[in-house]
Amino acid sequence: MTSYNTVNITRQDEIAPGFYLLSFKSPFLVHQAQPGQFVYLRCDNTYDPLLPRPFSIAMVDGEKNEVAILYQVVGRGTALLAQKKELDRFTVLGPLGRGFTLPPSGRLFRPKGGPKRIEPLESFPPSFLRIAVVAGGVGIAPLFFLLQRLKDLPDLTIEVLIGARSIKQLLLGPEVKSLSPQNKLHLATDDGSYGFHGPVTEILATLLKADKMDLVYACGPEAMLKTVAGLLTKYNVPGEISLEKQMGCGVGACLSCVCKTKGDKENSFLYRRVCKEGPVFPVQEIIWEE
Ligand SMILES: Cc1cc2nc3c(=O)[nH]c(=O)nc-3n(C[C@H](O)[C@H](O)[C@H](O)COP(=O)(O)OP(=O)(O)OC[C@H]3O[C@@H](n4cnc5c(N)ncnc54)[C@H](O)[C@@H]3O)c2cc1C
Ligand code: FES
Repeated sequence: MTSYNTVNITRQDEIAPGFYLLSFKSPFLVHQAQPGQFVYLRCDNTYDPLLPRPFSIAMVDGEKNEVAILYQVVGRGTALLAQKKELDRFTVLGPLGRGFTLPPSGRLFRPKGGPKRIEPLESFPPSFLRIAVVAGGVGIAPLFFLLQRLKDLPDLTIEVLIGARSIKQLLLGPEVKSLSPQNKLHLATDDGSYGFHGPVTEILATLLKADKMDLVYACGPEAMLKTVAGLLTKYNVPGEISLEKQMGCGVGACLSCVCKTKGDKENSFLYRRVCKEGPVFPVQEIIWEE
């Protein structure tokens, strides 16, 4: 059962100015967590700040029984967390929420004119499922755990697109590359200080336009996710995105984290809880507020 556990920090490093990678022991999370799920974490052992803070599970190390989160210092909770050292303890609830759907095994069948579908391996000649993983800034966190899982699946080609404001905020590029040499890495910065000069979504647009992608996963700032959603609708490619909302209870009771989604009937909508039905949603289900 998911309940609060006290965990020991095994390591904390500032991997870029203001960005921290924090590892802690948790055999339970190692075995239970799925990519895209998050933990609700008390940043200090006092009740100040009162509420825990949500963080995506960024890495899982089965050999060491460790889990890592990657976070940016933006306020009081994360500033307190950044002061924690090895062997310090904190409490954590998780894994919470609904994560990414892993691609089905099998190879992609692309009938002329018909919808794409997945068929068993032996039925069709090789045709790898082409996946784009698109991260904006610290949005790489849940996607890195996803990449750890995708690495073990056969017959995928994976393009990893990481964007940031500048070179200082480009996170985990070398780690993505060493995770699997097959991962093709594209880096982009808004100020042109490294890689492609411009938004990472422009690289995605080029890949989609060339019909090079079958499935897209994304996490990052809302403006980036809106652009990703628009592109996937335009090119009719399925995808899943991870949303962030400020949270109260973290477990589905307070409704403070809702987002607007399409309902069952045409033109209908319903509010769904990011902490419970999300944070990962199929991209076509989200109704973006102005
Ligand atoms: C499901 C989920 C997963 C997340 N995963 C990560 C992660 O892997 N790494 C990471 O760095 N952050 C992640 N976040 C965001 C993280 O929870 C907030 O940055 C954190 O709670 C801020 O706490 P604070 O006390 O430092 O800042 P606060 O003092 O609470 O807030 C500082 C500023 O950040 C804004 N803010 C706070 N929470 C959020 C939020 N959820 N979304 C958008 N803006 C917010 C506030 O409006 C305020 O302007 C995630 C959020 C959600 C909902
Ligand atoms: S945070 Fe309370 S319902 Fe989501």
